[in-house]
Parts: sequence; structure tokens; C-alpha cells
Amino acid sequence: MRTRVAIIGAGPAGLLLSHLLDQEGIESVILENRSEEYVLGRIRAGVLESSSVELLGEVGLGDRIEAEGQPHRGIYLQWPQERHHLDFVDLVGRSVWIYGQTELTKDLMAARKSAGQQAFYEAAAVTLHDIETEHPYVTFIDAGGTPQRIDADVIAGCDGFHGPSRQAIPAAVQRIWERVYPYAWLGVLADVPPSTDELIYAWHPDGFALHSMRSETVSRLYLQVTPDDDIANWSDDRIWDALAARLGHGQDGWKLTPGPITDKSVLPMRSYVQTPMRHGNLFLAGDAAHIVPPTGAKGLNLAIADVSLLSTALVSLFRSRDSALADSYSDDALRRVWRCTHFSWWMTTMLHQGGDDFDAQLQLSQLRWVTSSEAGATGLAENYAGLPIGF
Ligand code: APR
Ligand code: PHB
Repeated sequence: MRTRVAIIGAGPAGLLLSHLLDQEGIESVILENRSEEYVLGRIRAGVLESSSVELLGEVGLGDRIEAEGQPHRGIYLQWPQERHHLDFVDLVGRSVWIYGQTELTKDLMAARKSAGQQAFYEAAAVTLHDIETEHPYVTFIDAGGTPQRIDADVIAGCDGFHGPSRQAIPAAVQRIWERVYPYAWLGVLADVPPSTDELIYAWHPDGFALHSMRSETVSRLYLQVTPDDDIANWSDDRIWDALAARLGHGQDGWKLTPGPITDKSVLPMRSYVQTPMRHGNLFLAGDAAHIVPPTGAKGLNLAIADVSLLSTALVSLFRSRDSALADSYSDDALRRVWRCTHFSWWMTTMLHQGGDDFDAQLQLSQLRWVTSSEAGATGLAENYAGLPIGF
């Protein structure tokens, strides 16, 4: 088989890249080692920056976001006895949208299917070859057990942290930065209407808590736990008690309404950046090149920004044989990657228990500052709502 772009991974990065390229008449083939149902069933984050929503709207993926997503003006930041709303629209003229990554993946898959996208799910032993040549190719075993080969002009590694693409870049060329945090998130999905109109990020001596949502009837909530904590230690009652304490149930009459928990999982927390994001004719995008802790809601939006830059670069490369954008892709994408890596680290270290009492006082001082100083609030708003793609 031959194509222009062999895309490894059918997460948001891979699916959106194939969609953006198709808008420009550029053919691609997607290889995914999981089944379609598995990819669709994954529960992930749910905040879209305004620049992500704009981009998705421009390429025909805005309707369901518009119809079923929730535009939010900002977030609440709180610590015991204090809750403050940061209005991003007032501060920087941009909002964010609540729309589950699972829903976006559904939209992307449906759009690719109706466009006749060639995709191999349950592709095993995906292996990259000759990425440093003008004729890279990928081999794999298809779902029927038949060995296959795809020749391409370029390979796009959108296969997340655990995929083969990241490791295909020679160690001598790679540079890696990593910070592993001494805490994790216990995330729950609950069939209960959210007890808040917008997200609540809570600092608490017992540990961080976040109240998010998926719809008017489904809530998504998180608790700071230790990385090795066993989920079996967390009964539903214990989870709701901890959420009530940390989110300030009863404070100023506010009530947290518990309900049936339908899913719970523990998410590790780390920051990871690997450069370069391009080596020969292999281009990395999304989690294949960088991981951010979820506190800044940047993972999905970074993947969207990467493939927006990458598709523009590949269109210019293929259509006008101009390699300037492809040659600067790694540096261009990394500007946003480090901005979001810094912001996610900053939100994470400001809101989680992990230091001594002096650290706690510093955190509280920072929270008081970003919630009382327009300059402080604007800095947070600009990063959270998202900078323009390609800034
Ligand atoms: N062969 C083929 N596909 C693979 C392989 C492999 N060997 N290994 C992994 N994959 C697939 C995964 O099954 C997954 O569907 O690559 C895809 C990578 O998708 P994501 O992990 O969702 O990464 P990305 O598309 O970059 O999206 C990043 O997803 O994980 C969230 O928080 C993250 O929000 C961020 C977003
Ligand atoms: C979510 O809705 O899952 C969510 C929201 C904000 C975050 C992380 C996760 O910072």
C-alpha cells in the first residue's frame, strides 16, 4: 500500500490530523493497535480552549460542540472559607468549552468514516522503517493476522506515550525532560447533576479536589491521592465524604450533591517533554512527544495545536514543495509545549499538597494573589483559555 501520510494512532491527534489533511485533499492511512470500541470507550479530559473550538468549527466539527457542549466563562479557585470566580471573558475576552474528549473522538471517527478514511484498527506489531530516508514505511499485522506494509512520504507519530514512534527517534538525537509528581488523581464519573455551574479547583489541607462535569446530568470529579493508593481503599461513601470536605460542602450554603459513581480510576501525574518532534520524515504530535499533568486542562488542546501546525506544514511541503514549515515544525510546536508545560506545572504545584507548611503558605499567598490582582488573574486566564494556535 502507498499513501502520503502514514498516521500511527487513532487518538484525537491522529484522527484530527487525518481530517485536516483530507480537507486539503491529502490522503492518509491510520494505524491503531486497539479496537474502535476501545478507543471510543476511553474516559479522558473534557475542556476545550477557545482556539481549539474555533479550529474544530472551521473544519466542520463544531456542530455537536455547539449543540451539546457547555461554554464556560471561567473557573472557581478556592481554599477553605474562600471561593473566587475568575472570569476569562472579562479578563482576556476568551472562554472555554466543556466537551468530553470521548465525544470529540466520536465526532472525529464519524467524520473520518463518512469521508472514507482508510484505517486499520487492532493493528499489531506496528513498526517504523527508514524514517531518515525519503521512503519511510510502516509494517504491521492487520486484524486478520496478515502482514502488511504501507509506504508513505512521511510518518506521523500520534501514538501517545507508549507507542513506537517516540522510541524510533535515535537516543543520540533525543532530549528528554521529565518531572514526576508525588501525587495522583482519583477520578470519578457520577450520574448526578453537577453541583456547580463552572469548574471548581480546590486547595485543601487534605489534598486537592476538582469538580468538573460532562453534561447537565453527569459529573466528573477528582481527588488528590498518593500514587500507590489502591482504588479498593476508596468506597463511594469515602469518596463523597472527601469531596464534600475538600470542596467546601456547607460553606456559604453551598451543597455538593452525591450520586451513583459509574467509573473510577487513578491517574498518574507527570510532566514530560521529548525533543525533537521531527526526525527525518517522522513527525511526532500530541502525547507521543509530551505529557502534561491534567491540572491545566492542556493535554487535548496541545494535541490539537500540534496537528494544526503539522497539517499546515505538510500541505505546504506536498503542495508547493516548500519545506520551511516542516523544517521549523518542531521548534514552532515546542514553543506552545513549553508554555503549556510551565502552566500545567504551575497550576499543579499551586494546588496540591506535597510540601511543608512553608510551601502551603506560599501556595495560599499565590492563590490570594491570582484571585485579587487583575494582573495575576489575567495571567492565569490567558494560559487557561489558551493562546492562539501558532502564537
Ligand atoms: N500501534 C498503533 N497505535 C498505537 C500504538 C501502537 N503500537 N500504541 C498506542 N497506539 C494508539 C493508542 O491506542 C491511542 O489510541 O495511539 C493512540 C494515542 O492516542 P492518545 O493517547 O489519546 O494521544 P493523543 O492523540 O496524542 O491525544 C492526547 O489524549 O491522553 C489524552 O491527556 C491526553 O488529552 C491528551 C490527548
Ligand atoms: C475534566 O473535565 O476531566 C477535567 C477538567 C479540567 C481539568 C482536568 C480534567 O483540569
